[in-house]
Amino acid sequence: MNMKDIIELKRYGKPLSKEQIEFFVKGVTDRSIPDYQISALLMAIVLNGMNTEEMTTLTMAMAHSGKMLDLSFAGDVTVDKHSTGGVGDKVTILLLPLLSTFGIKTVKLSGKGLGFTGGTVDKFGSIEGFRYEIPADEFPGHLEKCGMVISGASPDLAPADKILYALRDVTGTVDSIPLIASSIMSKKLAGGADVIVLDVTCGSGAFMKDFERAKELARAMIDIGNGAGKKTVAVITDMDQPLGNTCGNTLEMQEVLQTFAGRGNTDVIEVVCRIAAECIKASGKANGLAGDDLLYECATRLTNGQALSKFVELISSQGGELKNGLNPVFKDLPFEAMRVVAPESGYVYSIQTDAIGNAANHLGAGRKTVNDTIDYGAGIRFYAKRGDKVKKGDVLCSLCHGQKAELSDDVLFDVMDEVLSAYKISDEAPEEVPAVMEVLS
Ligand code: URA
Repeated sequence: MNMKDIIELKRYGKPLSKEQIEFFVKGVTDRSIPDYQISALLMAIVLNGMNTEEMTTLTMAMAHSGKMLDLSFAGDVTVDKHSTGGVGDKVTILLLPLLSTFGIKTVKLSGKGLGFTGGTVDKFGSIEGFRYEIPADEFPGHLEKCGMVISGASPDLAPADKILYALRDVTGTVDSIPLIASSIMSKKLAGGADVIVLDVTCGSGAFMKDFERAKELARAMIDIGNGAGKKTVAVITDMDQPLGNTCGNTLEMQEVLQTFAGRGNTDVIEVVCRIAAECIKASGKANGLAGDDLLYECATRLTNGQALSKFVELISSQGGELKNGLNPVFKDLPFEAMRVVAPESGYVYSIQTDAIGNAANHLGAGRKTVNDTIDYGAGIRFYAKRGDKVKKGDVLCSLCHGQKAELSDDVLFDVMDEVLSAYKISDEAPEEVPAVMEVLS
């Protein structure tokens, strides 16, 4: 088989055979295909797409390029949840303990935050002692202890994706539904869970900027998952404003604790409960509950202390420090260094969410490259969200850095400008957008 012929076939919009796709992925993994040929094929895929059969074959080949986890030791249905990324996205942290109250076991493999999106393991990393590099052979012990484990993705899972993603990042080939779908689903399939629930975010703080593209990506991933014999569900959620009222690592953990205590934002609760309901139904653990009754049960367990006690078990199972056996001890706490106020009266019409994510990173909440250190106390606390009526001088949000960290006034004023230009204030009220836009299965 010859790589040049494969590139030319895709260049002319022809479907690739199973053998051709497997040849490609093998050559990517063992590095026998040069980067220029890999990149040429990636660009041809961006331009001419792939059908469902090709996407499924590509995903399976990428999944099998490394270790395939076997979670059968769990002795029950296992669930994995994935978000396509966002700003202020603390859904997983609330979801896992909630699912655990229904007896659902979760093995969550999660990436570190990069670019404007935050990473779930970094949020857990804000807790003293919390270990998030858990070797796969320790998963059974954690599942036995508390029914949950969260770990940074192992380098042995889907190594072909790591090579392809690094090349996509520098060749303008990230934004392609077949490539995004196969990248995400290869890691989910290698992770071994029986049920895959996808949170496909949509809006200015997401990969998918509009609803139709988000739906197309969701459909592609569901088709791949089902084709691989996994129950796969997707929930499309709004990311045209930050989720909840904080973004940043400790800040979001504190918001999680408030949510468990019944003082959470409605958008967060709605997203968590809808995703939980889909996981519960797909795992066969609904116990006769359905529709609004199931959602009500989820919201109740989320806020009445049941999910909180599971959360505490998870922290303790992974070595996190707890004061009085209950409250997470954070490495650093947020210090509110500057308030950003409304320059005029009106409605908050829109919030450019990727700009907010970048602003939080400039405060120290994220990293530019994987090796950068982060300031756990840094981030943004939101006081006004889309649709809120504000008067000139009202606080829109506050900029935080860690109490142990330092930030110059120059940086703070630059970030204030960035945040102000992300907020659009108008005389007109914006259209209401539900936090959960659609559920597809
Ligand atoms: N997340 C992934 O894991 N892969 C992509 O291609 C895009 C988002």
